[in-house]
Amino acid sequence: MRGPTYAGRVSHEEVRVSADIGALSLRVAEAAATIINDAVNSRGRCAVALSGGGTPKALYTLLASRFRDAIPWTRVHVFWADERYVPAGDARSNYTMAKEALLDHVACPAENIHPMPTTFPLAEDAAREYERVLRGYFGADVPRFDLIFLGLGEDGHTASLFPQSPALAEQACTVVAVSAPATPSTRLTLTMPVLTRAAHIHVLVAGANKASALGQVLSATADPTLFPAARLRSAEGTLTWWVDEDAAGSSSVILG
Ligand code: 6PG
Repeated sequence: MRGPTYAGRVSHEEVRVSADIGALSLRVAEAAATIINDAVNSRGRCAVALSGGGTPKALYTLLASRFRDAIPWTRVHVFWADERYVPAGDARSNYTMAKEALLDHVACPAENIHPMPTTFPLAEDAAREYERVLRGYFGADVPRFDLIFLGLGEDGHTASLFPQSPALAEQACTVVAVSAPATPSTRLTLTMPVLTRAAHIHVLVAGANKASALGQVLSATADPTLFPAARLRSAEGTLTWWVDEDAAGSSSVILG
């Protein structure tokens, strides 16, 4: 395994490289358990936003098994960073993936689980409804999640904020509907002001197919319009890139 931590451009940003997705997931689960317990101990509850894709499945499975009793699930509120606009139960649904891998196996009360709605005829109306849900929990200010899990696409997208999307410039809305160059194309996503306000952002990046995007995103000159995940580097809280050796590749993963 490579050295675990590289010096960051800013003190709260770091890259942590693990041998493989299993080791990576274990370290993220340990870090998440600490963050969740700290939030519950200091504020009585913890707001976590989940992502979809294949990478976090091993993490969710660990949180539901080995770490199940290390987390005060009754105090955890679960939200989503993004959602594909498909019905709950659809195999492509981020909610369904998290439900099956994690939420069905822990004592998180149903009223603490806040999936992005996908039943409105117009996805834009679903986005407005989720903004209402966020205001109900966070109040009128821009939501400040205790912890957000994100992924990285091969094209540099994160959540459902894709390269050159007008959604990248969104400042007023906390949730928007987007048409993504991916399947399914209609999606809901938290916007950058929400992502970057989180107390802790954990980005999970595994696989050789992510090495090129990761190198771009971590370079000092990355253009966030072309590589949206680079915008996370203006995070207010801590930003941790959890990377496996394949994604780190032969290129340097030292922060630029
Ligand atoms: C989604 C996402 C998305 C994902 C990346 C990485 O709903 O698709 O939340 O941003 O995290 O595309 O996906 P993989 O983990 O499958 O590579």
